[in-house]
Amino acid sequence: MTKVDGEISTEDESEGADAAVRLARSTGAPVAPAEEPPFLIGFYRSAVAKKWLMAISGIALFGFVVAHMVGNLKVFLGMAHLNEYAEWLRDLGEPAFPRTVVLWGMRIGLLVAVGVHIIAAAQLTRMNHKARPVTYQSKRDYVAANFASRTMRWTGIIIVLFVIFHLMDLTWGQANPDFVRGDPYNNLFNSFERVPVAIAYIVAMLALGLHLFHGLWSMFQSLGLNNPRWNSSRRTFAVAFAVIVTVGNVSMPLLITTGVVNR
Ligand code: HEM
Repeated sequence: MTKVDGEISTEDESEGADAAVRLARSTGAPVAPAEEPPFLIGFYRSAVAKKWLMAISGIALFGFVVAHMVGNLKVFLGMAHLNEYAEWLRDLGEPAFPRTVVLWGMRIGLLVAVGVHIIAAAQLTRMNHKARPVTYQSKRDYVAANFASRTMRWTGIIIVLFVIFHLMDLTWGQANPDFVRGDPYNNLFNSFERVPVAIAYIVAMLALGLHLFHGLWSMFQSLGLNNPRWNSSRRTFAVAFAVIVTVGNVSMPLLITTGVVNR
């Protein structure tokens, strides 16, 4: 190679310098290949692992939502039924465990599931953005990516905001002026007799229904159970459970706020 005056050459121009030495001089010292992380850490970093975590935590959260709804529907049977059920939850595990210990175990499990679900969702979103930093130039396939799937993040945020308000309304009482600890029946009526609050509950329950529909549908995909032959059963399953949960949950604020059901 010809050398321009004043240019610093990295080349070893001495005769006999072998190719390896010349290469090392021009490219720097050889860099050791990046060390492979341990299997579990490598797996956790993959999109597949995050989808599994989303699906498994989602199944746990879905189980809670269904059980919670079945318990709450006792409001239609009367005060004794709902309040006894709430007491039963606190006594669960007695006498083997002290009162409320099992309930606290379930609350901690629920918190872990919520945390895993949200963190995995955020990390998957970041991975997707990294893989496609420029937004789609062409119109997206809105049949495949239907309304429920496109709104997952928004319905998720509505559910988180709802749960914060809901705890302040019916568990801690700051958002419910007539709150009485240990009396969920009257607390529910005190809450839903305020029309704006009942409307907020109904909107949140519709968002939850949409979130559940897409979550239940994509859960099979995430777990690798996505044989196209089952698509119609998957859709029926997702629609059925989303509708049951939505109708059950909406019925309470709707029937109480309209006065169809009274205490
Ligand atoms: C209209 C629908 C709903 C009604 C009527 C309702 C009713 C209630 C009531 C009465 C309580 C207090 C229970 C007690 O003090 O023993 C409660 C607590 C709670 N609810 Fe709901 N709920 C509804 C929907 C939801 C949804 C959709 C979620 C979650 C996505 C949820 C999450 C919770 C949580 C985490 C607690 C606290 C449980 C505890 O710490 O023991 N609720 N709910």
